[in-house]
Parts: sequence; C-alpha cells; structure tokens
Amino acid sequence: MRTPLLAGNWKLQPLTRAEARALAAAVGSGARGIAGRDIVLAPPFTMLTTVAEAVADSPVAVAGQNLYWEKSGAFTGEISGPMLVDAGCRYVLIGHSERRQFFGETDYTVAKKVGAADACGLNPVMCVGETLEQRDAGVAMVVIEKQVRRGLVELTTEGLARLVIAYEPVWAIGTGRTASPEQAQEVHAAIRAVLREVAPRGIAESLRILYGGSVKPGNIDELMECPDVDGALVGGASLNADDFLRIIHFQESSL
Ligand code: PGA
Repeated sequence: MRTPLLAGNWKLQPLTRAEARALAAAVGSGARGIAGRDIVLAPPFTMLTTVAEAVADSPVAVAGQNLYWEKSGAFTGEISGPMLVDAGCRYVLIGHSERRQFFGETDYTVAKKVGAADACGLNPVMCVGETLEQRDAGVAMVVIEKQVRRGLVELTTEGLARLVIAYEPVWAIGTGRTASPEQAQEVHAAIRAVLREVAPRGIAESLRILYGGSVKPGNIDELMECPDVDGALVGGASLNADDFLRIIHFQESSL
C-alpha cells in the first residue's frame, strides 16, 4: 500500500552540468516504464534545472538538498522553497545528518524547514538518525523519537500526508557499514509507532520511511524485504547510473 521511494542524494559531487545531465538522463531512461515506484534525484542547487530538464519525460522527480524557511529577504546564500519549486523540484531533503553535523542544523531549524516545504507544496524528506556513540550508549531510539517529534511540529495535516522520513544511522553513512535489515526494521517500526501517535489515523500507515546509509546493489533487496522499509536514500551508489538503476529495480531479477 506504500509506494516504494528510491532517492539518490548527490551531495556535493562536483559534476559539471554536462556530467549531471548525462547521469540524470541515464537514470531517466533506465527508469522509463517503471511502475509502482517513485524515483527521485537530489543534485546540488546549480544542477537542479539541468537535471529537471534531463528527466522531464521520465518518471524521475527532482529534489533540493536543503532550503531556507523565509521566502525572501537579506539571507545571503540561502534558497527558498518556491525557488526550488520553480527549478522543477517536487521534493526537498531536510536535516540530513551532514547538515546537522557541519552546518549547525537543529530540530528547531529542521521543523522550520519542514513547515516551509509544506507551505509551498514540496514533499519534505526529513532525515533522522543516531550517531555511533548514541547507539552504543543505548539511546538511539530516544534520539530518533525526539528528532521525529520535534521535526514535525510545524506541519499541517495536509503536509503530514506528503511527509517522507529517512532513517539514516550516522555510523552507516558513507562508511560501507550498512545497518542490518533487522536493525533497520526495528528502528523503522519504532518510528512508525511514533507517527501513529502524532499523525491522524491512517496517515501513519501510509507514510514512507526510507533507509539510508551505504545502500548498494548488493543489499537493497534484503533491506526492501523489511515490512517498514519503504525505500532508500542513496548517496555514493547513486553517482553510478548502473548501480542506482539496479537499486531502483530492486528485487526485479528474482521475479
Ligand atoms: P551513502 O549516503 O549511501 O553514501 O552512505 C547516504 C546519505 O547520506 O544519504
């Protein structure tokens, strides 16, 4: 009942616009004909329109990697939600752990950004996840629950229905160390239990919770077996068209 969502996060990959166009076009043509799956690419800001044009006649949607909550004003270096919409985005990543770690983002700024995405009709992909220290200290779920609850305080009910959550354990991002399907399922089920408390009846069951952290062609199939894993947020492996296409076509080879 939940449409799987597979998203590629290009982070600060220094592609030229021509390289970005070629990669997006390869993903777009490999995704053509795909049914019952949502595919998203999140390139850096300067490549958004190039990627949006390259995937225009494919099922691939485009996401910003960040936004600012004000629509205009003296905020040097920032990009607003309406600007992302104008550039062709339907989604926006919010609160990625790299933004929390290196750019001072907090649950407060995440909530403001989630609210701003909602206000302009973007689908927010709100990222949560614990560090290795927090996991080892046995407080992973406490941290994640707080991130989820605090991140959603500015969302309307309508916006809640468009929400996507990405669970990305910090220790698994870019490390080659993936959470096991059991670890992912345990956290995803706990996140859904929190959503059942904060979302109207029915909506919690329909919300997609993605797993992120060293997702690769070799582990996507087993991750997608988990009942509460509804897709993936993919970093490194989304920069190679063949790898990302294998990921979006998960479990098809065994059909
Ligand atoms: P990774 O990154 O797949 O390279 O681990 C995932 C992410 O940070 O979204």
